[in-house]
Amino acid sequence: MTTRTPSTTRPRPEVDAALGLLGAGRADWERAPAGQPAVRLRDAGLRFGQRELWGGLSLDVAPGEFLAVLGPNGSGKTSLLKVLLGLQALSAGTVSVCGRTPRRGSNTVGYVPQQKSFDPDLPLRGRDLVRLGLDGHRWGAAWPSRAARGRVADVINAVGATAYADAPVGLLSGGEQQRLRIAQALLGDPAVLLCDEPLLSLDLRHQQAVSALIDARRRLAGTAVVFVTHEVNPVLPLVDRVLYLVGGRWAVGTPQEVMTTERLSDLYGTDVDVLRVRGRIVVVGHPDSPHAEPGEHHHHHHPGDRDPGHHEFPGAGGSC
Ligand SMILES: Nc1ncnc2c1ncn2[C@@H]1O[C@H](COP(=O)(O)OP(=O)(O)OP(=O)(O)O)[C@@H](O)[C@H]1O
Ligand SMILES: [Mg+2]
Repeated sequence: MTTRTPSTTRPRPEVDAALGLLGAGRADWERAPAGQPAVRLRDAGLRFGQRELWGGLSLDVAPGEFLAVLGPNGSGKTSLLKVLLGLQALSAGTVSVCGRTPRRGSNTVGYVPQQKSFDPDLPLRGRDLVRLGLDGHRWGAAWPSRAARGRVADVINAVGATAYADAPVGLLSGGEQQRLRIAQALLGDPAVLLCDEPLLSLDLRHQQAVSALIDARRRLAGTAVVFVTHEVNPVLPLVDRVLYLVGGRWAVGTPQEVMTTERLSDLYGTDVDVLRVRGRIVVVGHPDSPHAEPGEHHHHHHPGDRDPGHHEFPGAGGSC
């Protein structure tokens, strides 16, 4: 009962899909007083033993804001997401999500973890995978099964995955699996969406579809997005600000402010050159990244494929 649709024949389903999420943000608007940042860090620090991953980090992420988190392997990007999920305590400072201390299992936060492929033999349909997003939430059990089924169908439709939602997940392409993961993360109608390298291993078309979907969600539902990535270019038109973590140090600001030869050389403590080529940012001389020339590897990105560099984001929706 393979119901996979060759995705080349589906013209930009992410746009229709995203519109389907318009009504999804209702509960978010009531979760915290208006004007509350989606994420607030104050003098936040995280250390394991003697090693400080980052410290003195103060940052507000507004509802609807798209924050890209960049930095080399081991700089503490995933650990930051775990702090926001309530899975990892800070060593110093404070953190709040929609005005509250993050706690495990909260449906305020949606999470797309660092990608792993499913076993081809896994006897789980895409629809079942998405449905798992209801478990562990406080209100999950309270949902009658018909309402739960409807909500699952809605988010599957919203990510454009209806055509293959009943196929075994292990047989789906990386991009199709990733859409289902995003559906799962959106199921709890989150005010904050945490994505850990969600574009890795996706081809350009799927990168664009997944990015467009996440972008639409934050625009239409006011969901703040914290998006960990090794490569800023595929999301550059969407990014409001960048948080760059390197060896215990950090910088935050717009891509124009942070992605400069001066700032990155200072952060890395060595000479790094930041070049701008046809709307793309190329960092040369990254001392400790596995991708010596970001953009040359694994992303299949071509200059000119995206509308480069400008992106209007008219005020955050205030959705916490
Ligand atoms: N619970 C823990 N106890 C001890 N060390 C940890 C723990 N969690 C993470 N670390 C260490 O902290 C460092 C940062 O890990 P983290 O996963 O946050 O990095 P990252 O920036 O996401 O890296 P990557 O780009 O490779 O995904 C790593 O060296 C990791 O081994
Ligand atoms: Mg990581």
